Amino acid sequence: MNHPDPNTVYPIEGVTRTCYLKNIITNPQILVGDYTYYDDPIDIYNFEKNVLYLFEFMKDTLIIGKFCQIATGVRFIMNGGNHAMDGVSTYPFKVMGKSWAAAPVNTVSKGDTIIGNDVWIGNGVTFMQGITVGDGAIIGTNSLVTKNVEPYTIVGGNPAKPIRKRFDEETIEFLLELSWWNWHIEKITENLNAIISGDFKVLKTIHP
Ligand SMILES: CC(C)(COP(=O)(O)OP(=O)(O)OC[C@H]1O[C@@H](n2cnc3c(N)ncnc32)[C@H](O)[C@@H]1OP(=O)(O)O)[C@@H](O)C(=O)NCCC(=O)NCCS
Repeated sequence: MNHPDPNTVYPIEGVTRTCYLKNIITNPQILVGDYTYYDDPIDIYNFEKNVLYLFEFMKDTLIIGKFCQIATGVRFIMNGGNHAMDGVSTYPFKVMGKSWAAAPVNTVSKGDTIIGNDVWIGNGVTFMQGITVGDGAIIGTNSLVTKNVEPYTIVGGNPAKPIRKRFDEETIEFLLELSWWNWHIEKITENLNAIISGDFKVLKTIHP
């Protein structure tokens, strides 16, 4: 079958604003799944510049699943931007080095940022550190995500709050079990109509 090649930078012929993201990432602390794309009419390489405060010494990771849709200007605040607040000063003395190199570390980690599969992230969204976003979630334009987002939930605002669930709980459970994004690409291609239209009759015959 002649489906788009996940190992190509530009999946859409003649279009350079949309890239399969995993193919342009250089930082080993950023992991991106197949078919996840980033769109940016100015420069697709802005994506990595917008993963902020991602330092090797913090050992944190940004993990993004498959088939995510990421719009222009999405930003991730990583743990290197977390100054400890429980002392007197929040100033990062150690990082400045010289005779301060032996000072205690005062950067704190809230863990990895994990974005599930088939997540649609709107224009200008910012994620705070250590956030997990469930499969099938949608993040509205310009949201500031400060809390985890449940699967198949639409959130929006600053701070982002749930707007609504995309399906009832039973259907969400079924879809998480279905995990169509993990199917072989031929099987996905054969069942695009059912996946796009939400034809549960068909989907239930594939995954009873
Ligand atoms: C979040 C989103 C998917 C919701 O779509 P929708 O359900 O059709 O939206 P509606 O206009 O019916 O709004 C539903 C509610 O969500 C609120 N809302 C919509 N978008 C919002 C956003 N970005 N931030 C905060 N609240 C938002 C509306 O105010 C409304 O609230 P109410 O129920 O209290 O009146 C959509 O608004 C959005 O942000 N899409 C992303 C677009 C984008 O950035 N695309 C990038 C290129 S692909």
